[in-house]
Amino acid sequence: MSGIFITLEGGDGAGKSTQAEMLGAWFEERGHEVVRTREPGGTRLGSELRRLLLHGGEEIGDVDSRAEALLYAADRAQHVARVVRPALERDAVVVQDRYIDSSLAYQGAGRVLEADDIRRISEWASGGLWPHLTVLLDLDPEAASERRRTRGGTTDRLESEADDFHTAVRESFLALAEADPDRYLVLDATLPPDELNAAILARVAPLVTH
Ligand code: TYD
Repeated sequence: MSGIFITLEGGDGAGKSTQAEMLGAWFEERGHEVVRTREPGGTRLGSELRRLLLHGGEEIGDVDSRAEALLYAADRAQHVARVVRPALERDAVVVQDRYIDSSLAYQGAGRVLEADDIRRISEWASGGLWPHLTVLLDLDPEAASERRRTRGGTTDRLESEADDFHTAVRESFLALAEADPDRYLVLDATLPPDELNAAILARVAPLVTH
């Protein structure tokens, strides 16, 4: 596999989509095939899982933490097998919103699951595929919730979690980044989009060999 796999992480409202778009456009201008995708929801099965996980409400009742972790893992297995690996095998650049780190941060934070268990099922689901680079757009949960309010739209199940949940998620992402500085780039999400893009490109350029 000789493609490039880049994931974007951060709390809801940190600006991942904007950065993913700018990054994808940069690669496209250089003649690369770019696959922009996301978890959950990057496949047909994944779209159904995404709808259930984020907007299932009464339809699915009170979802057990292990069941929830396995649904994210099921989405990941299908997505890696059908979208991400095939793209990397044909040398494409995959720019993806959220991946294993989201499971570690969200299912691990404020939930009853062990981080090692989440890591194990995620690694099993993905066949051990890790990104070349993970960009963490770090944002204080209060600022993030303000952004979500201004952005409008509907609130999904995780977005409506209590503030201390979002604080735990943020701390968990920062700890993951600190433990793996070679893979991670941590940026302050309050910087202007152009500055964030420049910082990401500075880190991405050395990954490009052709
Ligand atoms: P999404 O709409 O993709 O992100 P955002 O709200 O940042 O625009 O939301 C996906 C939600 O799913 C988000 O709240 C995080 C959560 N999630 C998990 O809990 N575990 C996971 O493994 C993944 C991939 C996402």
